[in-house]
Amino acid sequence: MEGLAAARRFVVWARFVASPELAERVVELHGLSKKYAFGDSHVEVLRGIDLTLSAGESCAIMGPSGVGKSTLLACISGLTVADGGSLTVLGSDLLKENDRGRTLLRRKMGIIYQFFHLVPNLTVTQNVALPFLVDGLAPDDRAVEQLIERVGLKGRKEHLPSQLSGGEMQLVAIARALVRKPRLVLADEPTGNVNVETGRRILALFLEVLRESGAALLLVTHHPEHAARFGRVEFLKDGVLAGESALRGEDVTADAVHDRLRSLGI
Ligand SMILES: Nc1ncnc2c1ncn2[C@@H]1O[C@H](COP(=O)(O)OP(=O)(O)OP(=O)(O)O)[C@@H](O)[C@H]1O
Ligand SMILES: [Mg+2]
Repeated sequence: MEGLAAARRFVVWARFVASPELAERVVELHGLSKKYAFGDSHVEVLRGIDLTLSAGESCAIMGPSGVGKSTLLACISGLTVADGGSLTVLGSDLLKENDRGRTLLRRKMGIIYQFFHLVPNLTVTQNVALPFLVDGLAPDDRAVEQLIERVGLKGRKEHLPSQLSGGEMQLVAIARALVRKPRLVLADEPTGNVNVETGRRILALFLEVLRESGAALLLVTHHPEHAARFGRVEFLKDGVLAGESALRGEDVTADAVHDRLRSLGI
């Protein structure tokens, strides 16, 4: 009887953990808006984004060039301040945080920027160790080394960014973003500068890390085949996420993503 009760408790617990509705909300946006001033006019880029992302969930964001995908990630990371709506990230109300608060919160995320943002005078190893150093911590040398090897840069540890190819710089940025096992990873086209095989390896690495750590991942990509590896795909068009077009779970296939892009005219 005891065993049966324990098994029931386990099933209830497992359902709780597996349910995206009950899992920790890592990102929660409602009606998020952002415009950029440009001379006398302004460009309204985001016009009311609604998006929630739970722990362990992976979501690809797709949309045409210039639609605001990087802007959306910049708002979530606090690098850009949104104009309106609500934005809760890792439990903090980001729109109420000041510069310092946003910076501290950003350090808890793993961020892969579209243009890498590596520190030019630091080696590969030092760049990957940077997330520890900015928090005044001694780097976890083993974690740094393991990640450099996992992304395939074993022979490049002492190179400077200027001595790397574009794809290799991207891999350094990925290792740096994952080294502290963040609960939220934001990745802006992390497969944009690498060949098909390396792209596959990067996605496999992301999925492995998500499985190990239960992190949430929001990833921008232009490739339907890459988007199809994730649990959910959202499409950004005309400043909003076309909610009714989003794909989830078993509906996410490369063909379905191609179809959606075609029907949305992306
Ligand atoms: N600092 C800025 N000042 C003014 N306009 C900006 C600024 N940053 C971005 N924009 C404009 O906002 C729009 C969205 O830019 P964003 O970089 O978010 O697009 P994107 O979807 O990431 O495009 P891509 O796929 O080419 O990376 C673009 O039209 C861009 O010109
Ligand atoms: Mg972009």
